[in-house]
Amino acid sequence: MNDVNNHTTRCVRTVAREWPSGVRIDSLFCIDREIRCFEGQYPVADGMTYNSYIVSGTACSAVLDTVDPSLVGQWLDAADRLFAGCAHTHGHPDYLIVQHLEPDHSAGIGAFMERWPECRLVCSAIAARMLPQFCPWVAADRVLVVKEGDSLDLGAASLRFISAPMVHWPEVLMTYEPSTETLFSADAFGTFGASLAETCDGSMAGYGTLWPDEARRYYCNIVGKYGKQVQSVLKKLDGTPVHTICPLHGPALTVAKFNPVPLYGLWSSCTPERPDAVAVVSASLHGNTHEAARELCDMLRADGAEAVHVALTCENVSLAVAEAFRCGAIVFMCSTYDAGIVPVMRDFLSRLASKGLRDRRFALVENGSWAPVAASQMLAEVSRLDGFTQAGQTVTIRTRLDDSSRAALKTLAGELTILR
Ligand SMILES: Cc1cc2nc3c(=O)[nH]c(=O)nc-3n(C[C@H](O)[C@H](O)[C@H](O)COP(=O)(O)O)c2cc1C
Ligand SMILES: [Fe+2]
Ligand SMILES: [Fe+2]
Repeated sequence: MNDVNNHTTRCVRTVAREWPSGVRIDSLFCIDREIRCFEGQYPVADGMTYNSYIVSGTACSAVLDTVDPSLVGQWLDAADRLFAGCAHTHGHPDYLIVQHLEPDHSAGIGAFMERWPECRLVCSAIAARMLPQFCPWVAADRVLVVKEGDSLDLGAASLRFISAPMVHWPEVLMTYEPSTETLFSADAFGTFGASLAETCDGSMAGYGTLWPDEARRYYCNIVGKYGKQVQSVLKKLDGTPVHTICPLHGPALTVAKFNPVPLYGLWSSCTPERPDAVAVVSASLHGNTHEAARELCDMLRADGAEAVHVALTCENVSLAVAEAFRCGAIVFMCSTYDAGIVPVMRDFLSRLASKGLRDRRFALVENGSWAPVAASQMLAEVSRLDGFTQAGQTVTIRTRLDDSSRAALKTLAGELTILR
């Protein structure tokens, strides 16, 4: 293992918890600090975790999900040690529960099933159909298909399956263990980053400030399109006592210390967390539009509003998507580029459409040196978003702010604040 910046760049952190009933849950947080970009497009400066869990009852044990290719070897070694060295785990796993087939969770299936030839693979019917695409060498007679409401008895512990189709793939299952009130939530309630899972035991009170920013960016960009499906799973779970949520990424969450469900309620219904806040998102070629965006933020703040600036040509678009979900108003500011919109702004707008973001106030600011057209083209894109209503007049900047465009921006800031 390598050491970079005092971090072991790839490692497995295991946390065990035992109950007097004889039930034991081992969490295997598989930490990757080498990764720079998740799913080929989301920067993850704090790394990434892929979680796997072992639930052991008095009679047998089940492993919930495998991990990313980058950590399969270390994860398998850690699982091996936990099975070999612990009477609670009965020496071997009886079931591998595959809640989600995406490669960041399914890469270890083949090696795991080979390592424990008596183990059965448990998954939904859709996952069983898709399994050969991900892992062609698992024999069909080792696969046990389960559906909503089915249970597996482990002795003192049991696993009840909750189908969660399209959160955010079609085959997804969540799993509930009633004796410990543990919800294994698949990708839901997951987050980017490694520090929280690396250093915390899941019961710390500071999660309210530490967890939401990256969890929001994860949710909005990865799961955000499927808000309706998230809502229907939340409805199914309503009334189920949950002590701990164990997602496939990031830390496990002790609900009494930090309950993420209300945030998921807001995100999945496109309800802004901060209806009064304004996300100012700018795309600039030479910096003048970013500079105008910074001035607009100052004007909004002077008027008492919360304003956050995302400079699209410098920062990743996933951050702008997350701020668009968080704030009640969005200002789209863009230079004219080849008689059109700067490509990163087009990308941002198409992502908002793809995620189905709705019900926001918005304003438009364009820049252009000879024939500005960015505003009309942005308007054409925004018009496709449900429930977007324009605040104030479109502001046109010619190359850089002058007295007249600055005054127009000031008026716009007032409009955005008045309508709060
Ligand atoms: C590659 C390129 C293409 C441009 N195309 C146009 C254009 O079609 N129409 C226009 O009015 N200005 C155009 N401009 C000028 C910019 O829109 C203008 O200088 C810019 O709005 C200044 O703001 P900025 O510093 O934020 O980029 C172009 C500039 C560049 C670099
Ligand atoms: Fe996923
Ligand atoms: Fe995932």
